[in-house]
Amino acid sequence: MKKINIAIDGYSSCGKGTLAKQMAQSLGYLFVDSGAMYRAVTLYLLENIIEISDEIAVSKALENIQLEFHPSKENNRFEIHLNGRNVESLIREIHIANKVSFVAKISAVRKKLVEIQQQIGEHKGVVMDGRDIGTVVYPDAELKIFMTASNEVRAQRRFNEMIAAGKNVTLEEVSANLIERDTIDSSRDDSPLTLNESYHLLDNSNITPNQQFELAMSWVNELLD
Ligand code: CDP
Repeated sequence: MKKINIAIDGYSSCGKGTLAKQMAQSLGYLFVDSGAMYRAVTLYLLENIIEISDEIAVSKALENIQLEFHPSKENNRFEIHLNGRNVESLIREIHIANKVSFVAKISAVRKKLVEIQQQIGEHKGVVMDGRDIGTVVYPDAELKIFMTASNEVRAQRRFNEMIAAGKNVTLEEVSANLIERDTIDSSRDDSPLTLNESYHLLDNSNITPNQQFELAMSWVNELLD
């Protein structure tokens, strides 16, 4: 059976991961959360007190960062390990979200992570979500989806998710973080989040996860038929 790569890009917290996971599961593909890699690098820099604005220090630090995805024992998903330590929960903290877009602007960081992401997708059969997957990581991905939703819906969803995971945040903090990240991610020089005509646009403000899954799978089936 023909295998394809699927790129899902879009604004912060608009359900890219949820859709990517469902599609990967249904197709028997690998799901890769590229944002987790940027978050893990951010965690490393903060823990090791490396100044994010010092690009030389950040580049040097990258030599000491090893990232791996391992299947989790409890649920059917992959979790990110930073230098052998499972940091899947730690990287979801608001203090990481508040810094990650500054780290993701740095070209040396992007170069290292994009290389890993491209290796993972070499043999196809990958669903990867992020900001630059369809433009830079897999420009030749057979299916590209650009997701968006209203600011209110996105902030409320992410707030609910974080509260359910036991994080200590307010809706205002979450909302401000999403807006700030979207601005930085869309305006940076290196690999900005960009919608072009190669993408299918999916606004999920008013549709259920099931409806969005059906729609996305109809695009896949058109390609695989
Ligand atoms: O899940 P959420 O939408 O909140 O974000 P994420 O996918 O975990 O990504 C966190 C941050 O990493 C983004 O705001 C970007 O700054 C950066 N990122 C990136 O620059 N390129 C990617 N391919 C993925 C994430």
